[in-house]
Amino acid sequence: MPVTTNVALGVGGGIAAYKAAELARALMERGFSVQVVMTRSAEEFVRPLTFAALTGRKVITNLFSAASAEDTLSSAIEHIRVAQENHILVIAPATADLLAKLAHGLADDFLTTTYLAFTGSVVLAPAMNTNMWNHPATQENLRILRERGHVIVEPDDGILACGMVGPGRLAEPEIIAQAVAGVAGRGSSKHDLDGETVLITAGPTQEPLDPVRYLSNRSSGKMGYALAEAAAERGARVILVSGPVTLAPPARVELILVRTAVEMRQAVMDHLEQATMIIKAAAVADYHRANPPQQKVKKTAARLSLELDPTPDILAEVGRKKGDRLLVGFAAETENLIEAARRKLQSKNCDMVVANLVSQPGIGFESDENAVTLVLRTGETIPVERASKSIIAHRIFDEAMKLRLALHSAQ
Ligand code: CTP
Repeated sequence: MPVTTNVALGVGGGIAAYKAAELARALMERGFSVQVVMTRSAEEFVRPLTFAALTGRKVITNLFSAASAEDTLSSAIEHIRVAQENHILVIAPATADLLAKLAHGLADDFLTTTYLAFTGSVVLAPAMNTNMWNHPATQENLRILRERGHVIVEPDDGILACGMVGPGRLAEPEIIAQAVAGVAGRGSSKHDLDGETVLITAGPTQEPLDPVRYLSNRSSGKMGYALAEAAAERGARVILVSGPVTLAPPARVELILVRTAVEMRQAVMDHLEQATMIIKAAAVADYHRANPPQQKVKKTAARLSLELDPTPDILAEVGRKKGDRLLVGFAAETENLIEAARRKLQSKNCDMVVANLVSQPGIGFESDENAVTLVLRTGETIPVERASKSIIAHRIFDEAMKLRLALHSAQ
């Protein structure tokens, strides 16, 4: 990726236009700079101010909207500037009308003229009524656009605003953002993980107490999933072992779903041999009920004590078996962050520990943002200031790759 990848986000007029606000946010979280361009009908559904507030930039709404003659001239060539300054053009929702215009080169407003002047990658996320989607005219337009090399993020099946059930609902903003990130990665010069197999664990584990109850923690899995996405963008083969989360699986990642610490350990050990780098972002439960009862535990008036046994320490076991694989552990602490991370690095034989204070509000577990300190085997500590988990994930890989070089040349 260039230092910053600029994305022009075209918003078409449809009920799903409001979801484009979530998309703008998801793109910015991944470190993209976002310029929003709205069609006239999109403004009927969402106000430009929503996007301006989100992106901190002026929103382009119309081709010849300027007041003075001078302004008219500058806005008349602005679509060329937008076409030149942006690396990726994503249109969401792309209406049937927009798809038809793009397919046939009609250019009668800012977005469609920008499209014609644009030479970068194009991602289209259509949304419309099921019959309009299925119509041969729309399907033919999609064929033309696909042949032109554009990425089409297929709409979801579901209940549409018109009450029909079928394909046509705009794909989830996270899925569209992943498609954009995938396109950015494809054109990226930073394919520094080509040839690597990265094994990542993510999310919490759930330890059953009986058939209906379990012990778990507040991990959302967002950090591990951001790492998986970043590694795939940078060219790695990615094996993601995930506990129960509500996130969409990243594109081009081999996903293994597990529930308990014991299952997670097994999945990790099964794939350790193939891995060149292991990142243990999962918040594994430290204790479990070794033999949970088959039947639901009944309530009584008496006090209940549970006997819990330690779960297998996966990180420590990988540390013993890792050979020259690069091992990155995580340390979630509420105090004495750096000392605790250093101790963990030593005792678990890690090459890097990503340490974060989970006691700070607004970052960590369920948040989209994080702030961490990277504690390295070389003795270095690198603070990474508050940023989206995607940006943090890329920083972790930047430092991991430098560390690998340093460790190799020290041998
Ligand atoms: N971890 C693991 N297996 C476990 C518990 C934790 O592999 N049974 C890994 C986590 O994936 C993480 C690291 O160990 O990479 C640190 O987890 P954390 O809960 O912060 O530390 P603990 O090892 O549990 O140590 P402590 O309780 O002393 O903080």
